[in-house]
Amino acid sequence: MEIRLCADPIALAQQTATEFFRLAKECVTTQGRFTVALAGGSTPQAAYTLLASAPYRAVMPWEQIFFFWGDERPVPPDHPESNYRMAYEALLSKIPVPSTHIYRIQAEQGAQQAAEDYEKQLRRFFRLAGDEYPRFDLILLGMGPDGHTASLFPGTSAVHETTRLVLAPWIAKLQSFRITLTPPVLCNAAQIIFGVGGAEKAEALQHVLQGTYQPDLYPAQLVKPIRGKLLWLVEKSAARLLLPPLTHLSDDSSLPAE
Ligand code: 6PG
Repeated sequence: MEIRLCADPIALAQQTATEFFRLAKECVTTQGRFTVALAGGSTPQAAYTLLASAPYRAVMPWEQIFFFWGDERPVPPDHPESNYRMAYEALLSKIPVPSTHIYRIQAEQGAQQAAEDYEKQLRRFFRLAGDEYPRFDLILLGMGPDGHTASLFPGTSAVHETTRLVLAPWIAKLQSFRITLTPPVLCNAAQIIFGVGGAEKAEALQHVLQGTYQPDLYPAQLVKPIRGKLLWLVEKSAARLLLPPLTHLSDDSSLPAE
C-alpha cells in the first residue's frame, strides 16, 4: 500500500489524472484495453474534468477504455445525485469514447433490478465462470467521513458479501437504497486508487489506515487488493491525524507531452 500526501484538492485531482493516464497507457499497450470503475461523490469530479482537458484529452487511448461505476444512487441518469450524470458532465460528454464502452448502472429500474442487471453485465463483459470475480484494471474510490467506500456503509450486511458482485443494500442513515460493487470485486482489482480530501474525513482516515481492523465500522478497511496495488491519495486536511505525520508532498504531476 502506498499513501501519497497531496497539498490541496487540485493536487489530488492532478495525481488522480496522472495515475489514470499512466495505467490506461500501460494497460492498452499490454492488453489492448483498460477497464475502470469510476467513483461517485464530489472528490473525483475535478480529476474527471482534468482528464477531459488538455493535455490528457488528446493523448488518452479513449477508444480502448471501458467505463463502469463502483456504485450508484437509486435515481435516473439525469438526476443531480446520479454518479453517472456527474461523470458524464465532467468527462464522458467531452471525450470520444464509444457509447458501447460505457456500462452505466441503470438505477432507474429500481435498486434490486439494477444490481441484478449490472451483475449480469459484468459476468458477460468479463466472461466470468460461476465463482469468478471481475478484475478491473482500475477502481477509483472515495471515502466518506464514516469510513464508507463505494456504497459499502457501516453496519450493513453488504460489508460481509462474498458471493454477489453487485448488491442493492438499504442504507438506513440515508433512508435510501444504493447499488454497489461488493468487497470481493473491489479486492480483485489490479489497482485501487482512493482519493480522500477534507478535514471532516481525518478521523475516519486515521482509523482506516492506522486503527484496528473493524470493517463493520470502517468498510474502507475491507479494500485490500489480493493481487493488486492500493494507492491512497490523501489531501493534507484529511491526513492531519496520521502518525507519524506525512510530510513529503507528492508533486509528481508529470503531464504527458501534448
Ligand atoms: C458516492 C460514492 C461514495 C463517495 C464518498 C465520498 O456514491 O457518494 O461512491 O463512496 O466516494 O461518499 O464522497 P465525496 O467525494 O463527495 O466526499
